[in-house]
Amino acid sequence: MTTEARSGQPPRAARLSIPAPVLDELEAHGLPVAQVLDGVEQRLHDQVSSNNAFVDEVARYLISAGGKRFRPLMVALTGYLGPNTPVTRPSANGTLRSLVDAGVIVELVHLATLYHDDVIDEAPARRGTPSANSRWDNTVAILTGDYLFARASDLSADLGVDVTRIMARTLARLCEGQIREVQGSLGAMPDVPQLEPTLEHYLEVISGKTASLIETSCRYGALLSGASEAQVEAAARYGWNVGMAFQLSDDILDVASESEESGKTPGTDLKEGVRTLPVLHALAQDPDGELAALLDGELDDADVERALELLRAGDSLARSREHAARYVTAAVDELRMFGERPVVTALTRLAEYSLDRVG
Ligand code: IPE
Ligand code: IPE
Ligand code: MG
Ligand code: MG
Repeated sequence: MTTEARSGQPPRAARLSIPAPVLDELEAHGLPVAQVLDGVEQRLHDQVSSNNAFVDEVARYLISAGGKRFRPLMVALTGYLGPNTPVTRPSANGTLRSLVDAGVIVELVHLATLYHDDVIDEAPARRGTPSANSRWDNTVAILTGDYLFARASDLSADLGVDVTRIMARTLARLCEGQIREVQGSLGAMPDVPQLEPTLEHYLEVISGKTASLIETSCRYGALLSGASEAQVEAAARYGWNVGMAFQLSDDILDVASESEESGKTPGTDLKEGVRTLPVLHALAQDPDGELAALLDGELDDADVERALELLRAGDSLARSREHAARYVTAAVDELRMFGERPVVTALTRLAEYSLDRVG
């Protein structure tokens, strides 16, 4: 019987929305990532508690709404790459504690960026519920994001200067990525220096805004389990490549998915004038067609629907998927130095999942 069944909690897959077979496979390989993830769940709630009841409520809002906990899962798994894992050395409980803390840090930072991102994107929904900015307002969402960053930094101090500096640098890359995206989006504020939304620009944006944090999650896991420097760097490169595939698939989902699956509102990128890879492919194929004309100005709901229809009908989604698959292959290649170990099989499955996911 699983821990959840005993405790009467909903099954893990329902809470995390990572498909049960993926998680079962990880556990079947004798990698009790559940220990880390259960710890993360508990600590997440403890870490955001506030004496101010309203701050407490808003800070918990998106944690309670769900989410895949993909980044803590990355920390948990890469935490089996080094020699100091609870599995190989049952006495190394310090590793387990550090992995839980690192999992909480990456999820809190991720959460903070979601509160902020939904303000930037004027997004109405997140994790299947109204976004914080639409439930309350932009000011509340921004300040809550800042609060979550602060709670993450506090915990990070316990893990030392290296862990803290790594996150500070990750956050700088993430912000640079988000700003670069604004600079390339149509209809950006008049005083913002514009950047041309080319493929190169797009890849730099997603490297900063998404791949950086997934890279750091893997760096943390490897580092905290005592992996060698070369192994830590390989784990980080694995994470970066998975992160690129993860955001590419998110951008495909913004076009292809229904809101019930993703918990978000399809077409948000189009509405914000953000040219994601499927759009770039479609425009390159037909620079003067109906889609190009539609995307040239402000889009109302009917325009978004029509643009989605055009994008779904063409082959730009398939081409974007092929592009994402190349990052998955590159990620898996980085695992070669670890040999044939259960953790490597599990990390391979997770890299594949980053592409196959529907939400
Ligand atoms: C959403 O991340 C933001 C991106 C970087 C694509 P997730 O897809 O991991 O969102 P949650 O945590 O499951 O809600
Ligand atoms: C997410 O980019 C990046 C961060 C949250 C840092 P998106 O704007 O594409 O993500 P979603 O689709 O809103 O989750
Ligand atoms: Mg967004
Ligand atoms: Mg965004």
